[in-house]
Amino acid sequence: MSLKDQINTGQLPKHIAIIMDGNGRWAKQHGQHRVFGHKNGVTAVRESAEAAAELGVSYLTLYAFSTENWNRPKIEVNALMQLLLQTINNEISTLNKNNIRLNAIGDLDSLPAINRKHLMKAIEETKHNDRMTLTLALSYSSRWEIVQAVKKLADKIVKGECTPEMVDAQCIEGLLNTGGMPDPELLIRTSGEFRISNFMLWQIAYSELYFTNTLWPDFRKEDLYAAIVDYQHRERRFGKTSEQINIVKDQK
Ligand code: FPP
Repeated sequence: MSLKDQINTGQLPKHIAIIMDGNGRWAKQHGQHRVFGHKNGVTAVRESAEAAAELGVSYLTLYAFSTENWNRPKIEVNALMQLLLQTINNEISTLNKNNIRLNAIGDLDSLPAINRKHLMKAIEETKHNDRMTLTLALSYSSRWEIVQAVKKLADKIVKGECTPEMVDAQCIEGLLNTGGMPDPELLIRTSGEFRISNFMLWQIAYSELYFTNTLWPDFRKEDLYAAIVDYQHRERRFGKTSEQINIVKDQK
């Protein structure tokens, strides 16, 4: 049976998040500059978005540029921004054809003005699509996001719109960039690194983590299927016992 046929489409994760890693190493293996790896990473972005939408996944979130990535050599940062701009503009029609809504999280004000402008245009032009939401995490870090949420919360309290007693997890969730989105059930990281790197720290509290040695530019639909099949063999207990989970399953 093919990997795709092994997927139970009734038990798909609603939200898959991916830490795309290994572009630089892939380029090195091919005797090329790091930017060559990023360019080839775009194919993997397209493949994973297409595969996720075809299966019926509702949200796909990709860690495309972290707050810390600004510290990379200027030539690489510029090339990444250029690639992002090009990709967004090239893909708007495909996103619309496939009924995919584009979304972005992160410190978008820190992006070059031209990137922000085209990103906002693409978000606007795809806003009615409802098959899948593709979120790009850009100039994103989870600690930055949490600090922003805390500032918004403090402001609400100062204005009397909220009291400390009213603060709960739901209230904090709503103030994060991902407010309104379900938490990812599955987080994938490529390239054999076992780190979270400041990505969605709040939202992955109960996510299943999947690590693969595949370098991002080599990531294809089959790799996404393999991650989902693996996910579907996990027992998600959310702090309960295996017996409790199985009783609930038997009652269904
Ligand atoms: C990590 O690999 C990858 C990035 C920092 C950038 C990801 C960007 C893309 C896949 C291309 C454009 C994306 C979109 C959404 C248009 P790395 O450079 O850290 O690799 P290394 O660990 O091997 O050095």
